[in-house]
Amino acid sequence: MDQALEFIDTNLEHAIEELIEFVRIPSISAGANTDGSAEIERAADYLVNKFTKLEFTAEKIFVGASQNPLVVARDPHFSAHKKTILFYGHYDVQGVDNPRHAWTVDPFEGEKRDGYLIARGASDNKGPTFAHIKGAESVLRSNTDLPFNILFVVEGEEECGSGALDAFINGGGLTEYEPFLCTVISDTSMYGPEQPSLTLGLRGISYLEVTVNGPIQDVHSGLFGGTIHNPNTVLIQSLGNLFDESGNISIPGFYDDVIAISEEEKERYVTLNANEDQYRQKLGVTSLKKAPGFNLLEQRWTRPTLDINYLSGGSPRTVIPAEARGALSARLVPGQDPARIENLIKETIRRSIPSGANVTFSREHKSPAYLLDENNPLVQPTLDAIREGFKTEPVLTREGGSIPIVTSIAACTGVPVLLIGFGQITDNWHGPNEKFALADFHRGIRTSIAFLHQVKEYLEAPAKKRP
Ligand code: BES
Ligand code: MN
Repeated sequence: MDQALEFIDTNLEHAIEELIEFVRIPSISAGANTDGSAEIERAADYLVNKFTKLEFTAEKIFVGASQNPLVVARDPHFSAHKKTILFYGHYDVQGVDNPRHAWTVDPFEGEKRDGYLIARGASDNKGPTFAHIKGAESVLRSNTDLPFNILFVVEGEEECGSGALDAFINGGGLTEYEPFLCTVISDTSMYGPEQPSLTLGLRGISYLEVTVNGPIQDVHSGLFGGTIHNPNTVLIQSLGNLFDESGNISIPGFYDDVIAISEEEKERYVTLNANEDQYRQKLGVTSLKKAPGFNLLEQRWTRPTLDINYLSGGSPRTVIPAEARGALSARLVPGQDPARIENLIKETIRRSIPSGANVTFSREHKSPAYLLDENNPLVQPTLDAIREGFKTEPVLTREGGSIPIVTSIAACTGVPVLLIGFGQITDNWHGPNEKFALADFHRGIRTSIAFLHQVKEYLEAPAKKRP
């Protein structure tokens, strides 16, 4: 392992230059300018070329027409007699219309400044994915008889629903790499700038859009007001019925299946001692919405939410609009069934739609929460690897965000998904001036090397000695 670590310590500058080449490709899949399929392919080709140079067997896989290709690459010593470690990442990035003028650098120039690489995708998720590619490269240079296979699956649709990868997995695309040992994903964040973490859980999601229709077109509110239902009013009243007077979710049955966390886990989040004032100030709000009995981290990571993400209807003049629209999403925790929650939301909304107005739902998507048992035998080797990579004691966390493909991967492979974030919550994911600390890139590569080493030791230890 020392040789591999030494290799990356000496060749870090070159790795950074390679990453810059990668982030210069505007492989946007969400927001404005998603029609650049040539750029999407260029990013996929970049990876295939990179893997091929490392003597991996790499291919670009088109799953469905008009879907962005997957890049699937396996190491040069791949054998059906070994178990496989799957590294998942995404090469697609969010748009840069957030707004575009808020960017202080060209989002696709790849500028290095004050120890950061500032570029769209630097942290979400090209940098962390590339860290694992460099980790595997560093290890394979000196160690050609690893007791496991290394497989990379890098998708181009994480920011827009993972359709191609989902179809690939459901169609048996991963079976030729079985049996699996684990999956490693670095698409979460560290607990803090100097505090690496192993993320045991992610929240799930139920997303839907709602449209209320009234008259066939916008009409004069003086001529027709008082005689027909106004879609804006109907929409806000029906959405209002989802919440009580304090803004808490009041859908009957919403919390029924929520599994409470253990006292031990609760204690862990007390120990992490989140700074509430700092959190509040960073968000620019004067106070936080408190739920009695839950501290900030518990609330962010282990409690379900319901948010209205978008509202529109009518125009600022005296009309009754033809249509009102909204988008809603619930973040879900273990125990909650995304389909059941989706139905509860729809039923509650439908109940308060009067005759004379019409409601329809669209663009529904959903996935359950993910939670890894902290006693899983791979947790210790992973923590050891993070400690080695970052030279700091890691902590166990969960996160409030969702990576919907995680539960599909976990179900299909039947092995744990290890979420080791290298980015920070302050890296401006999805916003202007996204950045990735070059120190996090370096420590991420070192962690990846240490992880391969730790898993090797784990597999080679006599079974009785394994934790
Ligand atoms: N990298 C994030 C997931 C994430 C966010 C993990 C925050 C941990 C904390 C991912 O790229 C993402 O943005 N996911 C979406 C999925 C949604 C569109 C279904 C999310 O969480 O909103
Ligand atoms: Mn993202």
